[in-house]
Amino acid sequence: MSKTEKIIRIGLIGGGHRGIHMINCMTSDSARAELVAVAEPREERREDCRKPFTIPPERYYHDHKDLLNHLDELKLDAVLIATDVATHHEIVLACVDAGLSIFLEKPITRTLEEATNLVKVTENSGIPLQVGFNLRYSPFFVKLREIVNSGVLGTIISLEWTEAVSLRHWTEGYCRNPSYNNSARVGSWILEKSCHDMDQVN
Ligand SMILES: NC(=O)c1ccc[n+]([C@@H]2O[C@H](COP(=O)([O-])OP(=O)(O)OC[C@H]3O[C@@H](n4cnc5c(N)ncnc54)[C@H](O)[C@@H]3O)[C@@H](O)[C@H]2O)c1
Repeated sequence: MSKTEKIIRIGLIGGGHRGIHMINCMTSDSARAELVAVAEPREERREDCRKPFTIPPERYYHDHKDLLNHLDELKLDAVLIATDVATHHEIVLACVDAGLSIFLEKPITRTLEEATNLVKVTENSGIPLQVGFNLRYSPFFVKLREIVNSGVLGTIISLEWTEAVSLRHWTEGYCRNPSYNNSARVGSWILEKSCHDMDQVN
């Protein structure tokens, strides 16, 4: 990066497990990006955010609406949305309205109608939005794509695809974890977990 490039000011919406991990990655080079504010309703989660991040207490907001009400002083360039999928449609629309660039964690939404609407709205706005399909960039899948596209295997006519979720990942991550064992808040197993696989197959 050249010295004249500005440092990207990011707001984190959803200070849970994934939000903390991703914002750490995004701000690992402090010359390129910084975390400016956090929106997170749960006090214990805000406490988790205070450990790795050194932002002042007044930069913690109750939720995305509260954060977006303070944009004049925050001067954000972008937001990372890492809330549960049931909230994605509403939060993305509000952030597009605010003119912020968006990194949205997968899955996009729980319904096709909402996802289609978000694609339409963001495309019309011209605002950059990236969805967290991070497996696209993992060396294994980059190589796989390169091999398939090279034609060395000939024409692919069928494939067998296994998402090998370990027993521990399933029980701890999805059955006992209060963020994922509530069907009113999350999508199906295929949507929540295997949207990465669908993305790869596509
Ligand atoms: N790309 C990946 O590989 C990957 C991995 C794990 C999770 N994820 C995705 O990341 C997202 C978050 O997952 P998680 O495991 O961190 O869940 P989580 O429940 O641990 O965290 C979500 C947080 O969002 C907060 N929240 C809810 N509504 C909010 C609002 N309106 N404003 C601000 N904060 C709000 C909740 O209080 C919670 O702390 C999900 O969409 C999940 O599918 C992606």
